[in-house]
Amino acid sequence: MKILVTGGTGYIGSHTVVELQQSGYEVVIVDNLANSYENVVDNIEKISGKRPLFECFDLTDESKTLDFFKRHNDLKGIIHFAAFKAVGESVEKPLMYYHNNLGSLINLLKGMEQSGVKNIVFSSSCTVYGQPDELPVTEQAPIKEAWSPYGHTKQISEKVIQNFSQTFPANAILLRYFNPIGAHESALIGELPIGVPNNLVPFITQTAIGKRRMLKVFGDDYNTPDGTAVRDYIHVVDLAKAHVVAVNRMIEGNNKQQVEIFNLGTGNGFSVLDVIKSFEKVSETKLNYEIVDRRPGDVEKVWADTKFANDELGWKAEKSLDDMMLSAWNWELALGK
Ligand code: UD1
Repeated sequence: MKILVTGGTGYIGSHTVVELQQSGYEVVIVDNLANSYENVVDNIEKISGKRPLFECFDLTDESKTLDFFKRHNDLKGIIHFAAFKAVGESVEKPLMYYHNNLGSLINLLKGMEQSGVKNIVFSSSCTVYGQPDELPVTEQAPIKEAWSPYGHTKQISEKVIQNFSQTFPANAILLRYFNPIGAHESALIGELPIGVPNNLVPFITQTAIGKRRMLKVFGDDYNTPDGTAVRDYIHVVDLAKAHVVAVNRMIEGNNKQQVEIFNLGTGNGFSVLDVIKSFEKVSETKLNYEIVDRRPGDVEKVWADTKFANDELGWKAEKSLDDMMLSAWNWELALGK
């Protein structure tokens, strides 16, 4: 059974390709390598023993996308990761974000319509909740005005898929990720942002190994136990496994609605200082950091209510924060070699 994974050489995509292959799926990756490297395909093969098919093109190119669907007319489902994801950059380049994130989704949905592919998993984000009024945040929490064009693209994409499913009998599962971190235990794949990382964990590991001078902790005056912002960090392999469960659910016809939404987190909130402490412990290094002003657009605290995903999907995140930080560190060390 063949699954298309867009953005399959990227961070979450590559881990998901491995989990799909290990569950017996054949995978075809489409990625334009805007924020990833082609040798990820080799490393996926090293882990799984199977080489995924790989096509390098941009999904905003409608004719290439529709041609792809003509050539692959046996897809059982799609997992759509390919998107830009830097919050700050999206504020500076909103058109680039709307064009890329929405254009590629629309072309994919046209491809589904043309070729009759019935199942899609969409990579959404807890960013759709903004700063929720109640924690932990459930899937019923109201969608708040997004704080960035990036956040808007996730909200609009969810809407586009919902509207599409009213006109075409497609099943969709929208997965709202909290903060994915960590790397595969083999240390062959992991998070490899091109340029200066925006996200906390790659910034920590790059600072510890000497690629960056110092980590800036954005704000210690939040209304949280230690004053730094709190997030629900989830191991990327746990997250990847949830995608396999979601694909199985639709292929086996176990979805209860045409469009379903799940939060993917652990249900635990950790502060920036908790993350740093965990890193220092597992890596046995001292991290160079300083407290600076808050980063504009950051929410104070958010963590998931995981009950619906745990009960309905029969899936639960298993790895601890220490596991996540150790795997992230091992990945950085492997890159250093
Ligand atoms: C953001 C988005 C999320 C998106 C993710 C992907 C929001 C609210 N969240 O997550 O939807 O999927 O990016 O990239 O839009 N921090 C530091 N120093 C740093 C970097 C981060 O202190 O150098 C802090 C941040 O202030 C935050 C925490 O670490 O409190 C996590 O930040 P980050 O890894 O960037 O993720 P989010 O902003 O939570």
